[in-house]
Amino acid sequence: MHHPSLKPFPDDFLWGAASAAYQVEGAFDADGKGPSVWDVFVREPGRTFQGSNGDVAVDHYHRMEEDVALMAEMGLTAYRFSVSWPRVLPRGRGEPNEAGLAFYDRLIDALLARGIEPVLTLYHWDMPQALQDEYGGWEDRRIVDDFGDYCALLFRRYGDRVKTWVSLNEQNYNLSNAYLLATHPPAAADRKRFYAANHIAFLANARAIRLFRQWVPDSRIGPSFAYSPAYPASCAPADMLAFDNAEEFTNHWWLDVYCRGRYPQIALAWLHERGEAPDIRPGDIEALAAARPDFIGLNYYYTLSYAHNPPDGVGMQRINTTGQKGSTPASGVPGLYRTAPNPALETSNWDWAIDPAGLRIALRRLTSRYGLPVLITENGLGEFDRLEDGDRVRDDYRIAYLRSHLHACREAISDGVELLGFCAWSFTDILSWLNGYQKRYGFVYVDRDETDARDLRRVRKDSFFWYQRAIASGGREL
Ligand code: BG6
Repeated sequence: MHHPSLKPFPDDFLWGAASAAYQVEGAFDADGKGPSVWDVFVREPGRTFQGSNGDVAVDHYHRMEEDVALMAEMGLTAYRFSVSWPRVLPRGRGEPNEAGLAFYDRLIDALLARGIEPVLTLYHWDMPQALQDEYGGWEDRRIVDDFGDYCALLFRRYGDRVKTWVSLNEQNYNLSNAYLLATHPPAAADRKRFYAANHIAFLANARAIRLFRQWVPDSRIGPSFAYSPAYPASCAPADMLAFDNAEEFTNHWWLDVYCRGRYPQIALAWLHERGEAPDIRPGDIEALAAARPDFIGLNYYYTLSYAHNPPDGVGMQRINTTGQKGSTPASGVPGLYRTAPNPALETSNWDWAIDPAGLRIALRRLTSRYGLPVLITENGLGEFDRLEDGDRVRDDYRIAYLRSHLHACREAISDGVELLGFCAWSFTDILSWLNGYQKRYGFVYVDRDETDARDLRRVRKDSFFWYQRAIASGGREL
């Protein structure tokens, strides 16, 4: 679709950057914080790249003022962060930890004082270990009330100042890793448990949204979804069917429930046939349907191409977590689909296809199917960066990535997509869950590595100055 001229970004467009508590805060046991499942998981040998963990992370908990000052200098108009559930409720429920709540008060106030809109994520994977131990976290319906109570605590405390909220971050990616690939806690590989836990997480998400309507009227909330639009590897009918299966099982399975309040029929029928469908009880579907979000949070990194996979074909495989390009194997579900390389696209060193048109396609598909506004809650490039003498990081590859993806946003806006904002992933460098500190995403370099926290010095990368100019020009100068 060609437009003679592209529409500008709207005046109230959110120019943002993002983070998540476990990946930046550190202070893993400070001021009364309880352990999360990640605090425990990273201590098990072989779970993360070189045993890296978020004990210190980039020490945002102690350097928050400095980080917010850098955000203001850059000109951000939004900052997306997550609250650590066990920091504010050390045992997952019960008595709140005032010191933890006060940290987020200070962060929110510091942002607002500089004209930066806080975008608060309720859950970015750091389940309180106490609830995992007591009843298996997402595998028990008791989590629905506990999560609802935790959310209501935050709605009451911050709802006067925070107007944009994200419910669950990447339920799809997190639970696929947790229950299919055994790469996130609790490290299971069991499809029945996967679909069961997912259903309960959907109910928790719906409860959070219903409580939100009660406590924070006139504000907006939506889940963040890791959307990798599917492409067919060829136009052979078998590949087209595989592509169809992939859209249905890897995308519509979540998005249809969030936005339409029901499971996609064909995928559900297939799971019933195999005895893997979730236990849907009376009232569940009504609860899901009553929680339509205000926007879809889109985390976009890459597209995936799919080919036919016979019943004895390839199963799910882990992705490259080392940065050794070309080391990610084909992965799939026998009888449904398998991934195939896309010869039209370059990839990063972690084998993620670089595809700005895929972002436009994602935005258009979401708009056409669900008719909701979209907030890009994550987009960015994880790469090796080199800190040169004189504190310079020449990350022109990241600038090229972000420039092309923001251009795709303008094209999508011109196509008719209602796009609320763009939160680049990430503001400072972060701990990449399974990839350690060497896979860097930030505009701000943090001087540390997998095992040595060094001085945690903040260094503005070239991309910092590029995004600063892009924001100042309202996106006209990319
Ligand atoms: C998303 C997560 O999956 O993508 C982030 O919401 C994560 O927490 C980001 O860091 C990039 O993934 P990775 O695995 O490269 O860190």
